[in-house]
Amino acid sequence: MTAIEQFHTAPGTLDLGWGHPHPDALPVTEWTAAVSVALERWGPAALAYGSTAGPAPLIEWIGGPADEVFVTAGASHALELIASVFGRGGPVLVDTPTYHYALRTLADHGLELIEAPADDPDRLASVIRERRPALFYVVPTFSNPTGASLPGPHRVALIETARRGGLTIIEDDTYRELHYGVTPSPSLYSLDASDVVIRINSLAKTVAPGLRLGWITASPDRIRLLTQRGYIDSGGGVNHTTAMAMAAFGDYAAHLDRLRLRYAAQRDALVSALHHHLPAATFDVPDGGWFLWIRLPGADDLAAPAAAHGVGFLPGNTFFLDRAPGRPIRLAFSRYSPDDLTEAARRLASAYRAL
Ligand SMILES: Cc1ncc(COP(=O)(O)O)c(C=O)c1O
Repeated sequence: MTAIEQFHTAPGTLDLGWGHPHPDALPVTEWTAAVSVALERWGPAALAYGSTAGPAPLIEWIGGPADEVFVTAGASHALELIASVFGRGGPVLVDTPTYHYALRTLADHGLELIEAPADDPDRLASVIRERRPALFYVVPTFSNPTGASLPGPHRVALIETARRGGLTIIEDDTYRELHYGVTPSPSLYSLDASDVVIRINSLAKTVAPGLRLGWITASPDRIRLLTQRGYIDSGGGVNHTTAMAMAAFGDYAAHLDRLRLRYAAQRDALVSALHHHLPAATFDVPDGGWFLWIRLPGADDLAAPAAAHGVGFLPGNTFFLDRAPGRPIRLAFSRYSPDDLTEAARRLASAYRAL
């Protein structure tokens, strides 16, 4: 297929199935400036093979101890790499429901996946005892698909359960910075004193997915194991020039403030339109991220009427291993304006009435 963008939908359709940014949120002007500043500031060094764990200017920008950071080609690449280096030696636990492409990426490695909810330490402890898993994948902050966050006490319990069971937690922290009026709970990584957590971050949601840029934070020993992969060493890191441009990005804090206002307004528009047009839908309003996780009786049969009414969503069973019916649906409020989201809710309600 020849195309520029991954996003595609039938003309006129408002497809809330895609977790993509609003096109106006993509910082075209700021990125142009960042590339040009990087080339002026660092000259040929910005275009050379880079340092294996990522270039110093971006590692400084990320902050924290430099030997705990590894710059990746996005969160997905980070997960792929972690699965290759740390995935051997047992099945992989995954939170449930969880990010569907993480399920695929882990399954690509031939790893057996087992679901266990992150907020149930007893169940986790018994699965660990019985199955001896190597890894546990979780999106504890503004999760995809639910938008929910793991409460603070559960975070501490999860780390302790993992420590006792010899399990490594992969904390996917992709949505942390997209919070709307709350301060998110501390990351699992920041709470961990016993080297059980590897944290994944991405600039896909806060700057642009096309950068394919993110990073891993882990203990220096784990970072060394990751950087020893031949293809990373051979290429001088994985995304050097883009990383250098990111290190020269202008006012990131102001950019984030604008994004938070935008996405909060989009969330609020969809929430109030759903309350108004589709009272049968029940959901929690997330404090951050991009998604609403909607319980709606009969939603298993909603896809066809929704398409006929020009609106799309992702069925909730996408985010479970068994793909069984009867799950909520995921609506992304990230890609459309408040007016479009209001219209999408109206269409979804008409489709639901037509069922
Ligand atoms: C939880 C989660 N992790 C990772 C990603 C992908 O990140 P990246 O584009 O950096 O690979 C997404 C994007 O939808 C996501 O929701």
